[in-house]
Amino acid sequence: MNYDNLKISIQQAEEILFKLFNIKGTASALPGYEDYNFRMKVNNENAFILKISRPNEDADYLYFQQELLQHIASNDKDIVAPKVIKDKNGNSIPEITDAFGKQRKVRLLSWVSGRIWSQVNPQLNDLRFSLGEKCGKLTSVLLTLEHDKAHPTFEWDTAQSLWTKNHLHIFNEKETEIITYFQKLFENNFKAYSSLRKSIIHNDINDNNIVVSSELINPKVTAIIDYGDAMSTQIINDVAITCSYAIMREKDPLDAALPVVKGYNSTFPLLEEELEHLYTTIAMRMVISVIKSAINKLEDPDNEYLYISEKPSWELLKKWKKVSADFAHFSFRDACGYKAHPNQDKFNNWTQKNSFEVSKLFPTANSNEIQHIDLSVSSKWIGHQQEFNDLGLFQFKIEKLQAQHPNKVIAGGYLEPRAVYTSSAYDKTGNNGNESRTIHLGIDFWFPAHTPVHALFDGEVVTAVNDAGDKEYGGLVILKHEADDFEFFTLYGHNTVASALRHKVGDIIKKGAKIAELGNYPENGNWAPHLHFQVMLSVLDYKIDFPGVAYYNQLDVWKGLCPDPNLLFKSETLQSIETISNEALINYRKQHLGKGLSLQYKIPIKMVRGAGQYLIDQVGRKYLDTVNNVAHVGHENYNVVKAGQEQMALINTNSRYLHENINVLANELLQTFPKELSVIHFVNSGSEANELAIRMVKAVTGNKDIIASEVGYHGNANMCIDISSYKFDGKGGKGAPEHTHIFPLPDSFRGKYRGDDTGEQYAAEVQKQIDIVYNKDRAVGAFIIEPIISCGGQIELPVGFLEKSYKYIRAAGGLCISDEIQTGCGRMGKTFWGFQLHNVVPDIVTIGKPLGNGHPIAAVVCTKEVADKFAIGMEYFNTFGGNPVSCAIATEVIRTVKREKLQKNALEVGEFLKAELKALSKTFTIIGDVRGQGLFLGIELVDAEMKPLAAQTDYLANRMKDHGILMSIDGPDHNVLKIKPPLIFTRENAEELIFYLSKIFAEDFMIK
Ligand SMILES: Cc1ncc(COP(=O)(O)O)c(C=O)c1O
Repeated sequence: MNYDNLKISIQQAEEILFKLFNIKGTASALPGYEDYNFRMKVNNENAFILKISRPNEDADYLYFQQELLQHIASNDKDIVAPKVIKDKNGNSIPEITDAFGKQRKVRLLSWVSGRIWSQVNPQLNDLRFSLGEKCGKLTSVLLTLEHDKAHPTFEWDTAQSLWTKNHLHIFNEKETEIITYFQKLFENNFKAYSSLRKSIIHNDINDNNIVVSSELINPKVTAIIDYGDAMSTQIINDVAITCSYAIMREKDPLDAALPVVKGYNSTFPLLEEELEHLYTTIAMRMVISVIKSAINKLEDPDNEYLYISEKPSWELLKKWKKVSADFAHFSFRDACGYKAHPNQDKFNNWTQKNSFEVSKLFPTANSNEIQHIDLSVSSKWIGHQQEFNDLGLFQFKIEKLQAQHPNKVIAGGYLEPRAVYTSSAYDKTGNNGNESRTIHLGIDFWFPAHTPVHALFDGEVVTAVNDAGDKEYGGLVILKHEADDFEFFTLYGHNTVASALRHKVGDIIKKGAKIAELGNYPENGNWAPHLHFQVMLSVLDYKIDFPGVAYYNQLDVWKGLCPDPNLLFKSETLQSIETISNEALINYRKQHLGKGLSLQYKIPIKMVRGAGQYLIDQVGRKYLDTVNNVAHVGHENYNVVKAGQEQMALINTNSRYLHENINVLANELLQTFPKELSVIHFVNSGSEANELAIRMVKAVTGNKDIIASEVGYHGNANMCIDISSYKFDGKGGKGAPEHTHIFPLPDSFRGKYRGDDTGEQYAAEVQKQIDIVYNKDRAVGAFIIEPIISCGGQIELPVGFLEKSYKYIRAAGGLCISDEIQTGCGRMGKTFWGFQLHNVVPDIVTIGKPLGNGHPIAAVVCTKEVADKFAIGMEYFNTFGGNPVSCAIATEVIRTVKREKLQKNALEVGEFLKAELKALSKTFTIIGDVRGQGLFLGIELVDAEMKPLAAQTDYLANRMKDHGILMSIDGPDHNVLKIKPPLIFTRENAEELIFYLSKIFAEDFMIK
C-alpha cells in the first residue's frame, strides 16, 4: 500500500474542520493506528480530536463507535469519554473526498483534557487501583450496550489470538519458546475460557488511552479514550489488557497488577472462573502485541506508533513467564476477596473433623505439649544477630530451654517475620526497592539430630532430594495426601540427606511409617537440628523444593497457600501468640506520652532490630539508614553491645569508686585531641554536656552573655534552649533571651553573605554581637557553634570564619565552645573532630550522640585552665556520668572507629557520595547545593529563584522511605536532606542511595 496517498496534511485537517463543522481551529497531528488523527485547538485551547479514516473504512463499525460513545455519555456521569460532535448538517460521520479522489469518513470528538498514563511518574498502587475502578465502571456500562456490529473477527481480540501461531517464523528460538509457552497454555484452557462472560468491551485500554488527573500527588484516572477497538468478547480480556499496559515497565509485574484487579473488582465483581484465565489472557495480549509490532514494522516502518510498545511488551512477556501461573491465579483471587486457594475452606473443614498429635509425628518425643519458641525479628530470646548465627551457642540455648521444659516439645514459627535469612536467594528488587523473604511458612520443631519423623497420614512422595546450598533445606521430603475431595501436601525439611533419599518420587508412605530423620549441621542446611514442617494446598511449579519463607507483601496469598500446620495439632500455646498493632502503640502514645514527642513519616514505622547500617521493622523489612549518626559504628555493633553486657553483669556504680573504665575511656578520647584539651567530665547527654559547658563558662569568666548562631541547636535543657535559636526562634519559641546574642547563619549558599569568600563577613557579624554585649556594659561569656551547623541544614562554616571569630571572642575575654555532638568522633573524614577542619583549638568541646553508639553517655573536654577555674570547691557529682558500663561502651566505640579505620571510610565513602550527588545536581536542577564533609552531607533543594522547596524535600524523604531508605530533613526552611549514616556505610550503600535518589528526583512532583 502506498501510505503517502493516505496522509492528510495539517492544513487539510483545518480546512475539513471548518468546512464540515464550521469551526476554526489549528491542527496538530497525533499518532493513530487506523485513523489519521489531529488535535484541534480553538482559541489556543485543546478542543477536539478530528479523526479521518482510511478509504473504505467499515461504516457500520464507525457508527457503532459513535453509538458507544453516546451510550457512555448517557449512562454514567462518572465515566469520562470523548463526546460525539455532529457536523453542521447533523451527521455524526460526514464524508470528504481526499486529494486522490477517495471517500474518507470524518469524526469529530470532544477533547478530553488531562495527562495520559504513559506520562505519569510514578504510577503507584493507588493510581492503579483507580484505573481498575474506572475500567470496572466502564465494563458495567458497556454490558448494557447491545450491538451486532462490534467487529466479529479482529486480530486484537484476545479470544481470537491463536492466529498468532502462524507467525512464529519471525522470531528467534528464545522468543518463539516464550510465545509458544503462552499459546499452548491458552489453547489448553480454551474451552473453559470460551464459556466466560462476554460483553462489548473497550479492548484497548493501553497507556496512551488512559487519562489521569493533573495532581502530582495521588492522581486518579479520570477518563478512558479511543474506543476504536471496542468489540464484543470475553470481559476478562479488558481486565487483562488494562493490566498488561499498566504493569509493563514494572520490575514486579504481578505485584503491580494486583491493585488494578482489586480496583476493577470493586466496581465490577469478577468471577472465580474468570480469574483462572487472567494470567494467560494478559500474556496473550502481549503475544498479539509483539507479533503485530513485528508485522507492522515490516509493512509500515514509518509509523512508529504501530510498534510503540514492542520493547516493553517483550520485557513484560519475559518477566511474566517467570511468574507462576498458579501463584498469579491465587494472587488475583486474593485481590478480589476470594480465598487465595480454592481449597482453603475444604482444608479447614477437614482439619476440624480430624485431629493429629505431635507425638505421632515424633514418636520418640512422647509429648504433645508445646513450648513456644520465638525466633521472630523482635525476639529477645534470639538476642544479637551474631549470637543467633553462632551455631554452637544457639544449640546450647535450645538444649537449655529443653532442659527447663523436659516434657515439652519446643516449636513455633508459623508466619513469624524473621530477619535471619541472609542468603541472596532470599532477596529481590521489587517495584519499591529491595525486598527480603522473611515470613516463615512452617512450624519448626526443635529436636536432637536423628530424631525420626513419622507420617501423620498416608502420602505419596512428590519430592525427595538433597536441597543443601542456597535454599538450605538439607534432606527434603514432600508428600501428597488425598483428603475427602481434595489434595494437599506436607513438607519435611532439614533431615539427613540419606533418610530423605531413601524415597523416590511415587513411593507411598503409610500413616505411622518413618519419613526421615532430622539432620545435623551442616548437611541439614546449616542450622541446629530441627524439622521444618509445612502444609501446602499446591506446590505451584516447584519440582525439587518449595519456599519455606515468603515475602511480606505476598503474605495473604502464601497464608492461603500454606495453611497453619497447627490446624492439625490445635495446640493452644501456638494459637495464643499475640502482637500489638502499630495503631494501639500510637493511641497509647497520644494519651500517655508528652504531646511534644513527634513521630517520623506519614505512616510511622516500628523498628524492632538494628543491624549495622540497617534498621529492621516488625515484619522484617530492612531499611538502609542514612539518618542515624548516633549508631556511629553500626546499629547494635556486636563488640559494643558485648562490652556493655559484660560490664553490666559485673558492676555499675558511680565515679566515687575507683574503676579503670573511666580512666581508660578518658585516655582513649584524649589521644584524639590536641594537648591543650586535657581534662574530661563525663555526663549523660549532649544537652547535659552543653549545660555543663555553660556552667563552666560562667564560673571561669564570670559572664553570662553567650554568642551563638542563628538556627543553632544545643540541647533540650534550660540553658541549652536559651542558646538554641533553632528552638526559641522556631515554632512555640519566644525569641532570644536577654543574655543570648545571635549572629546570622553563616550560610554562603543562601545566607546574608553568599559566595566563596564570606568568612570575614560572617566573623564581622560575630564582632557586632560582641559590641552589642559591650554596649550594655557587660562582657562576653562564650561563643558556641557546631563545626557544621546541623539543624541549620548542614551548613559548612566559611573558610577563615572560625579562626577570626575565635580571635574576636578571646580578645573580648570569652571562651570558645565547639559543639561536636553531631560532628565528632571521626565523622568529618579528614579530621577526627570538626574544629580541626578550621585550624583552631577550642577551650571547651562537647561530645554526645555517637560516643555511646546509642547508649546515653556524653562528655565535656576542656583545657586545664578552664577545669581548674571551674573547680571552686563545690563537688561536681553526676550519678550516672562516667559509670563503668557507659565507659566500657564508649571505649569500645572509640576503639572501633580507630581499629576499623572508620574515619578513613567516612572520608572515602563521603567524598564518593558527595561527587555523585554533585553529578546528580547537573541533571536535577532543583538540587541547589551539595555540601558537607565526610559522612555528614546535605542536599539543599531550591527553585530557579533560590526559593526553598520544602514540599519536594518532604516528598522525597517519604518516597525514599517507600523504597526502604531512611533520610531526614532539616534547615530553617525544611528543604535540606541530611545524610549522616553510621560510619560503616559502604560505597555500595552510597550507590544504592544514589540509584533511588535519581529515580525519585525524576518523578513528576520533583520536576514539575
Ligand atoms: C548539635 C547538638 N547539640 C546538642 C544536642 C543535644 O543532645 P541530646 O539530645 O543528647 O541532649 C543535639 C541533639 O540533637 C545536637 O544536635
